[in-house]
Amino acid sequence: MKICVVGLGYIGLPTAAMFATHGHQVVGVDKNPKVLEALSRGEIIIEEKDLDKLVKQAVTDGSLCGSEVPVEADAFIIAVPTPITAAKTAKMDYVKAATESILPVLRKGNVVILESTSPVGTVEELMLPILERSGLKAGVDFALGHSPERVIPGSILYELVHNSRIAGGLTPACAEKIAAVYKCFVEGEILLSDARTAEMAKLTENTFRDVNIAFANEMAQICENLGINTWELIRLCNMHPRVNILQPGPGVGGHCIAVDPWFIVEKQPETAKLIHTSRLINDARPTQVATKVLSYLEHVSDPQVTVLGVTYKPDVDDLRESPVLEIVTLLTAAGVSVRVYDPFVSDKFGGDLMKAVTGSDLLVLGVHHSQFKQLPLAEIGAVMRSKQIYDTRRFIDEEAAQAAGFTYYLLGRD
Ligand SMILES: NC(=O)c1ccc[n+]([C@@H]2O[C@H](COP(=O)([O-])OP(=O)(O)OC[C@H]3O[C@@H](n4cnc5c(N)ncnc54)[C@H](O)[C@@H]3O)[C@@H](O)[C@H]2O)c1
Repeated sequence: MKICVVGLGYIGLPTAAMFATHGHQVVGVDKNPKVLEALSRGEIIIEEKDLDKLVKQAVTDGSLCGSEVPVEADAFIIAVPTPITAAKTAKMDYVKAATESILPVLRKGNVVILESTSPVGTVEELMLPILERSGLKAGVDFALGHSPERVIPGSILYELVHNSRIAGGLTPACAEKIAAVYKCFVEGEILLSDARTAEMAKLTENTFRDVNIAFANEMAQICENLGINTWELIRLCNMHPRVNILQPGPGVGGHCIAVDPWFIVEKQPETAKLIHTSRLINDARPTQVATKVLSYLEHVSDPQVTVLGVTYKPDVDDLRESPVLEIVTLLTAAGVSVRVYDPFVSDKFGGDLMKAVTGSDLLVLGVHHSQFKQLPLAEIGAVMRSKQIYDTRRFIDEEAAQAAGFTYYLLGRD
């Protein structure tokens, strides 16, 4: 098959390389000249484990090349961004432009697949009318549908192969044709469904996480007010065979869990009450955590704080929608002098840990990067102005911190 992948980012490029190394001829399309320039040399401009090698192999073999515009192909895959606007609605301009770009090369017998995370109805209400301007009929002359991408950055190549994949077609026959496209590399189960359910499935998975995290965060707030240790509470409750409460924290970040629930709220604002409230609860966390930090510094003049870890999750360099970064902004606005240390964001926040903690009144553990397990607490304490730790992830060993002379505060307890 000849496959044209539109959008060569974190999703499109690994997918294109996967098809290209599994027997297909692939043309990758991107608006960004830097992406195409790098691709022409067999190189990539994003960070993803082993992707550089796979792309190099595909380009060297001649099975993957780049293009500024879509070309005639058997299958088209759209993997362009679907960000959120300031008004918390999905920005669908990229999907619209990508669909329009396919129009001149759409032929009878083609398969068109949307991979971008999109609000329900995108395939039927946005893409279908554009593609039918060709004079061809969707579901009759060409197959159309949605196959959401559910991989996690850092393990994309593994998960592309091993995750199950939903093939949501405009018609059952479209779903079969979409499934057939992915069969060459997907070893997980391919689940046939309709396009609307497939769109909702992706949004629901991330919303499920968001709502459950909001529950843990709300419990943490309630427990703090009532003088109960949330972590002990959750440990006890999770002994129940049908209870599995997630962990509280300083907020929800990233470009998926903090974004996708809004796509449901946008479509059903009157009905999606729990989903909307959960978003608001999680979005309020940085303010609550910053307020807590200020309470620990109440009697300190010219307070200095060191924040350890600012990415949206541990052991990655991604700052998108990071709640800890928001906490930094809030503290700075409140007149606190904040220094940030994050070895994963080396250009901005790397540098020297000891320099970052010298003279500080409080360490805030913002993200539980693995290497923070081995913090040299005695050395750190020796150069701080006052030895205090606020652990927002229950990650630092409390006894070790106390043995090093620290006052240890825990989110959800203190
Ligand atoms: N990154 C992830 O971990 C992840 C996981 C699951 C789902 N998704 C979803 O997949 C979709 C793509 O995300 P991403 O992270 O790959 O985005 P990205 O920003 O990394 O890449 C998108 C690429 O599309 C290109 N582009 C934009 N408009 C174009 C157009 N009209 N024609 C050709 N190229 C165009 C951009 O230049 C960019 O290179 C989004 O809907 C996202 O929500 C992402």
